[in-house]
Amino acid sequence: MFGHMRWKWLGATVAVALLAAGCAENAPQNAFDPAGDNAQSIQDLQVPVFIIAGIVGLIVFVVAGYAVWRFRDRGQPIPEQTHGKPALEIGLTILPAVILIGVAIPTVGTVLSLNKTSDTECVVNVTGQQWWWEFDYPVQEGCGGIAEPIVTSGQMVIPTETNVLIRGTSRDVIHSFWVPRLNGKRDMVPGRVQTLRMQAWDPGIYAGQCAEFCGLSHANMRMEVVALEPDDFEAWKANQHSAYESPTDELAAAGEATFQANCSRCHQVDGMTDADGQPIIARPDLQEWSGAAPNLTHLMSRNTFAGAAFDLLSPGECRDHVWDAPPEEFGPRYLEGVTPDCLNSVALRDWLRNAPAMKPMYTDPTKLGPTDGLYRGMPYLALSEDQIDELVAYLLERK
Ligand code: CUA
Repeated sequence: MFGHMRWKWLGATVAVALLAAGCAENAPQNAFDPAGDNAQSIQDLQVPVFIIAGIVGLIVFVVAGYAVWRFRDRGQPIPEQTHGKPALEIGLTILPAVILIGVAIPTVGTVLSLNKTSDTECVVNVTGQQWWWEFDYPVQEGCGGIAEPIVTSGQMVIPTETNVLIRGTSRDVIHSFWVPRLNGKRDMVPGRVQTLRMQAWDPGIYAGQCAEFCGLSHANMRMEVVALEPDDFEAWKANQHSAYESPTDELAAAGEATFQANCSRCHQVDGMTDADGQPIIARPDLQEWSGAAPNLTHLMSRNTFAGAAFDLLSPGECRDHVWDAPPEEFGPRYLEGVTPDCLNSVALRDWLRNAPAMKPMYTDPTKLGPTDGLYRGMPYLALSEDQIDELVAYLLERK
């Protein structure tokens, strides 16, 4: 009777294990599916280590299981007690030490090679904050030459087959940058600069997420690395450097005024001027605990928003057209940006209507005591539906 129950449990465990194994069909953050040199060197280390550990684990389970079964209590007298078996004990101390040394040597080698910075071909500064990532490209000869800084967020665009060095930090709490198919994690710590290499073989979008608990919306702090062929990367840079264009249609023009009245105290749009022709400079440091908010100058050149938590491309055909593009067609499709027909206007409008309802943030004005009145995240702005129409029209032109 009891034995029958045990088999049932075993059967259930095996069934659950098989079910769990089947869950990984669509796994964009699979750390066992490297897409670049750094991830490959981790893969070359972790696979043999997992195999060795698996074999050791299997042997331990089999031997322990055999001992439990073979010497189970059948009412026999207690065996004669001896001190032990010195030869076996010494052997079983030396063997794990040998295995650990065997694992340590390639591990140290891999860690050192992953920390190399001398072959860097492109530098991107990455800053984490509650709850989004900012990417800025400093002036450099790397990345094919950058004459004017580029500031973007949510999606880090890099050229393929290029050693990119992230210099990362944080503006508030500790975050962790993790794009599993390209490299391991690196904590981003306030007051420190940590480096992390990135390199992707093929064009495409590589998903990642913050991997260190950082408050309410930690789970909504996502990012993507977007890899483009060098030519397409040049086109992306040129677009990021393109000058501000005032709205072309009436609704968007109204949106510019609405934006200036409601959004521009936090969100920078480079090149936008006030009625006197003076540049409008955002001051998120007066509103936000982190002192920063995403730069929206070229919002529609990226295809996610709000910490990459939501799609700017409408789900289905529009999104799949870019995200599932074959590598050779990916670049041009990504560079199209978000067109009016493909805008995920439901999500964007919901966000403008009531951002804290879509993503948990510290935006209750009555609970900002600990931060001296500073928000963490985008507050509820009480915009009218007409204002939302205007803002969407205006933002759609921010390519
Ligand atoms: Cu940032 Cu978790």
